[in-house]
This record gives sequence, structure tokens and C-alpha cells, in this order.
Amino acid sequence: MLTKKNVLIWFEKSADAMAEHKQELHLLDAAIGDGDHGINMNRGFGKLALELPVMGAMTLQEIFKHAGMVLLSTVGGASGPLYGTLFLKGAATVGTSEALDASAVLTFFDAGVEGLVARGRTEENDKTMYDVWAPVLREYELCLEAEMEFVEILAACVCAAEVGMKATIPMLARKGRASYLGERSIGHQDPGATSSYYLINALYESIRE
Ligand SMILES: Nc1ncnc2c1ncn2[C@@H]1O[C@H](COP(=O)(O)OP(=O)(O)O)[C@@H](O)[C@H]1O
Ligand SMILES: [Mg+2]
Repeated sequence: MLTKKNVLIWFEKSADAMAEHKQELHLLDAAIGDGDHGINMNRGFGKLALELPVMGAMTLQEIFKHAGMVLLSTVGGASGPLYGTLFLKGAATVGTSEALDASAVLTFFDAGVEGLVARGRTEENDKTMYDVWAPVLREYELCLEAEMEFVEILAACVCAAEVGMKATIPMLARKGRASYLGERSIGHQDPGATSSYYLINALYESIRE
């Protein structure tokens, strides 16, 4: 089960991860973009961490909506609207639930990632964050069908996210700033795929505790 408490811990751990990996995200984005991804993610998730006390009094759906709005308005760049959309579209699936079971979490991410794809007009192998989310959702579905425990599903998703993140290295960027580099984008790991990996890992850690 993903409870309200887990979600708040997830956001806190995400903010910690973005702070810890700020320089790494900066360097990845400096190589194939404009170098702001570390700052962008830190600004957004730092703001989200400050909002945690306020969010404690909200319903689960309001928490996700609020997170989406905060990320949309504070992350900036191309990634802000994409992450914001993920949480806003996911929030729309939550209804009045106080906690999400493993199946409802998949529904949340399916809708969220569908929104991300529509907004980014992206597909797999474009060398974006979607190259992490697509294999993660496939892995999640397989694990759910195999009736694995929620925490084990998330552990498998972290592995799938890592594989997806590393698989962006040989890809040629077809979306976002990195696409301006054409062939020169090959050989670098995508910054958004990397921040997405940290988000998924933080979710796993919030449940493992
Ligand atoms: N159209 C898109 N669809 C999906 N993801 C995208 C798209 N454009 C960019 N991204 C993601 O956003 C990341 C860059 O984010 P960021 O540096 O914050 O924004 P910007 O590129 O505007 O500087 C990329 O590494 C990629 O993962
Ligand atoms: Mg950038």
C-alpha cells in the first residue's frame, strides 16, 4: 500500500536525492543540454520539501495535485511541465482513496506517464526520461501479474529504471535540447532519465522502510 505518509516520505527522499545528485545532473545536462537540470530539479523538489507540512493536512489526491502544481511552476525547463503533468494526470486517478494498493499505483503511473508522453510528444528511444518510465511500467505490470509484493515490485522497477537510464547512453536524442546536437548526443546519459531513476528509487526507499 502507498499511504499518504509514504508519499510524503517519497517526496522528502526525492528532494534529498536531487540535492545529493545536483552536480551529477548538472554535468549530464551540461554535456548535451544547457546544464540547468540539477538546478531545476533542486529548485522544484526543494520547494516540494518545504510544502510537506502543508501537504500533511491534505487528502492523497490533493497531495498529488499540489505536488504537480509545485513542480510545474518551480522546476522550469522542459522537465518541469513533464514532471508536473505526470503528477497532475496521476492525481486524477486517485479519487477519494486514502491509500493506493499496488494495482492503483500502476493506474496512477500509467495515466501520469501517458500525460507526459502527450505533452512531450515523445516515444521510446528518443533519449528522454520516457526511456526510463516505459520499461518501468512494463516491469511493474509483469510483477503485478506475477502477484509479487508491492515492495518487491518497486525493487524490480528500480532495476528496470537503472537499465533504462543506462540504455539512453548510446541513443541519439530526438527530443529536447539534446536533439540539437544530433550525432554528438550519442555517448551521454540523458539527464531527465537520470532524475527519473532517482525518483523511482526514492519511491522504493519510502516503501522499504
Ligand atoms: N519532449 C520531451 N519529452 C520527454 N522528455 C523530454 C522532452 N524534452 C526534454 N525532455 C527531458 O527533459 C530533460 C531536460 O530537462 P531540463 O534540463 O530541466 O530542461 P531544458 O532541456 O529545457 O533545459 C531531458 O534530459 C529529457 O529527459
Ligand atoms: Mg537543461
